[in-house]
Amino acid sequence: RRVVVIGGGENAEHDVSLATAAAIAAALRSGGFDVEELTIGRDGTWRRGSSALRPRPAGSLAAALDVVDRADAVFPAVHGPVGEDGTLAALCALAHTPMVGSGLRAGALGMDKWATKLVAEAIGIDTAPARLVTTDRPAIEFKIDVVVKPVSAGSSFGVALARDAVQLREALREAARFDHRILVEDVVVGREIDVAVLREADGRSWAAPPLEIHADGVFDTKSKYDGSARFSVPADLADADRKSLTDAALRMFDALGCAGVARIDFFLTEHGPVLNEVNTMPGMTAESQVPRMFAAAGVSYEDLVARLVDAAAV
Ligand code: DAL
Ligand code: MG
Repeated sequence: RRVVVIGGGENAEHDVSLATAAAIAAALRSGGFDVEELTIGRDGTWRRGSSALRPRPAGSLAAALDVVDRADAVFPAVHGPVGEDGTLAALCALAHTPMVGSGLRAGALGMDKWATKLVAEAIGIDTAPARLVTTDRPAIEFKIDVVVKPVSAGSSFGVALARDAVQLREALREAARFDHRILVEDVVVGREIDVAVLREADGRSWAAPPLEIHADGVFDTKSKYDGSARFSVPADLADADRKSLTDAALRMFDALGCAGVARIDFFLTEHGPVLNEVNTMPGMTAESQVPRMFAAAGVSYEDLVARLVDAAAV
């Protein structure tokens, strides 16, 4: 079967998306798939290798659709805005091409940390208390340590901890480089636990054994990719905690209407799980959390990507 893997993208996670796409393409090839790789450049032009299919975004997109037209499925391995946010899912839907992963709605809700929070709270899953501010109305009252995040971004780009009003101003300025909507969240104290959920071709979804992140300080953009963070998988959890984390992850997956694979990130506090965020196209290099969690469930990386292609839907 012929699969088009799309990587890159126009946002700060461009390089991470290239790494995810390359790993997926390699695993699919070794599983016997016929793989074609396309890349979205930082300037929005669609590329094959290093050359643009056509000079400008719209024309190159038209050429990319010709490639998609010859495929049995598309694997959109683009993290972040204009990709993971449902944009590529919408393109595949319009092209009537089966696609791996979440559709437009789940992608859009998952990319929006404020909308994710509203859905979680609506189904009884705790999240950090937060204020939404916009760059034109940034005023907030500073009481305790907070985490400042762009509403739509990934890999912790634009995320900063603020311990005083000066740091808060600086953090808001930094977050505003990524989105004009900014979340100011109370700091949550707890263990950092990720849960991966896979929806199989038969529609059944299940969670792999949770993973714990041991970062030296904050699990930020640097420690996400410099190899300094350690993971333990399966995480060492009491049965009741494992069950409440897994239940919350599956309920979030269903509430957003996710498909394919999603990584749902929590803090495990003394009062139970607090949702941090949902990633509908999580990092999938061989070193990333998702492949490690499925490996712990006995599903190899090659098998994981093959199952994702099998579950691809229009
Ligand atoms: N946004 C990054 C790629 C992740 O969720 O792994
Ligand atoms: Mg994320």
